[in-house]
Order: sequence, then C-alpha cells, then structure tokens
Amino acid sequence: MPTVFVTGANRGLGFEHVRQYSEKNWEIIACSRKPEQSKELLELKDQFPKNISIEKLDVTNFDEITALSEKYHEKPIDILINNAGTLGPKGVPEGMGYQNIEHMDYEIWRDILEVNLLAPFKVATAFYNQIAMSKKKILIMMSSDLGSVQQNNFGGLYSYRASKAGLNILSKGMSIDWKDITVIALAPGWCKTHLGGEEAEVDPDVSVTEQQIMFESISPNDSGKFLDRFGNEVPW
Ligand SMILES: NC(=O)c1ccc[n+]([C@@H]2O[C@H](COP(=O)([O-])OP(=O)(O)OC[C@H]3O[C@@H](n4cnc5c(N)ncnc54)[C@H](OP(=O)(O)O)[C@@H]3O)[C@@H](O)[C@H]2O)c1
Repeated sequence: MPTVFVTGANRGLGFEHVRQYSEKNWEIIACSRKPEQSKELLELKDQFPKNISIEKLDVTNFDEITALSEKYHEKPIDILINNAGTLGPKGVPEGMGYQNIEHMDYEIWRDILEVNLLAPFKVATAFYNQIAMSKKKILIMMSSDLGSVQQNNFGGLYSYRASKAGLNILSKGMSIDWKDITVIALAPGWCKTHLGGEEAEVDPDVSVTEQQIMFESISPNDSGKFLDRFGNEVPW
C-alpha cells in the first residue's frame, strides 16, 4: 500500500486526509505537534492501528524535522502533504484584523512566515529522498487562492497572502531543481476549518475527497503548477 506523510494532521484538512487515506487502506505518517492532545487523531488510530503512525512534529522545530527524516530514512513516501499552516491565532474573519494596511502585528507575521514558508521548505528538503524513492513521488505544498497575486482583488490579509505567495515560488523552484518528483502548489478552496471559519464555502471532507482524486490524476508534466483541488490551474 502507498504511504502518505501529512503535517498538521490533528485537525482540519490534514486530519481529513488521514481519515480518508485510512479508509483507502494507505499507510499514513500523521504528524501533530501535540500528539497526546490530538484526541480525534488518537481515536482514528484506534480504528486503523495498522495504517496510522502518529509522530510528534512542530514544523518550526528543525531538529524534530531532521530526527524524523532520519527515523524514516529508508521509507518511500508516495505523497508528502506539507499541510501545517496558520493565519495567526485566529481564523477568518477575526484573523484579518491583525494583518491589514492599518494594523499590522509583526510578531504574528513572523510566526506565519515561520510556519507557512520556512517550515515547508525544511520539511520538503528533509524528506526529498524518501519522496524520490517512492512510486508516486508527489510533493504537495498546501498553498491558497489568497497566495495568488493575480486573484488579489480585495486586499487585506497581507501576512497570510505573502506567506502563500512565497510558498508558491518555493514550489516552482523545487520543480526545477528536483526533476524526478512532482511538486504541486495546491489551492484547496475556502474550507470550513478553524482557519477558514464558519462562513467558508466547502466542507473539509468534500475538499479532501476532491484533492485525493486530483492527486491520482496528475502526472510529472504537472510539476511546478499551481492547481486547485480539481486540477485546474490557478493564476500565479
Ligand atoms: N481552510 C481554508 O479555507 C484553507 C484555504 C486555503 C489554504 N488552506 C491551507 O490548508 C492548510 C490546512 O489548513 P486548515 O484549514 O486545515 O487549518 P486548521 O484547521 O487551522 O489546521 C491547521 C493545522 O496546522 C497545524 N499547525 C499550525 N502550526 C503548526 C506548527 N508549528 N507545527 C505543526 N503543525 C502546525 C495545526 O496544529 P495545532 O492544532 O497544533 O495548532 C493544525 O493541525 C494550511 O496550510 C492552510 O493555509 C486552508
């Protein structure tokens, strides 16, 4: 069975990926920064003990990333989903209040860049070998429509937008430097999670079902693209 590696797997879209890949009988390395407090994930592991391995990983802790990569140095990872992400302590809409043109919280901005931009680079480079030795060889960089420069038609959300626009350029660069794997920047849609808020348009389970269908349909020719969950190109 194929193996998927998911960061930020304890809730939201990451948890949903673990749940749906468990039902498909995949092997899942599910990372959470506080495994002992990841109640839903622990319950899911009880249901699928053979499929799920839970690992402690705060993606801003580079020593933890390195140690985990060493632990799994011989493990082919078919799909790595660089999913952990943040809009700051609050989701939409409250989280828009500390990252606009009139009020910018620079401390929160630094945290957002650590989690959304530096950490996915570190995770990707630490696990590149394991992705390259797998069958599917797919690296998913969880981006956002809000990271699209061309689609920015209502302003605001500077910190989050900048982090995801930055993530997009990392994804494109990796697709050039790593010709043997498929790197996708993914816009999952506006989803009802802590980050997306209650007004969001898509239920997380629906988005993830569509994402997983898309992952099966992409080919190496798609590497370096910015895609939505249906596989359509998103303008940079
Ligand atoms: N929801 C949307 O509408 C939407 C739209 C576009 C893109 N996205 C992207 O999709 C991804 C998942 O978001 P979501 O909607 O599922 O948000 P969420 O429900 O808020 O979940 C975020 C996940 O990231 C984890 N995380 C945050 N900081 C971390 C760190 N330092 N180390 C490890 N894990 C960390 C959280 O863990 P804790 O529980 O420990 O905080 C949680 O598991 C993010 O990259 C987000 O930017 C979401």
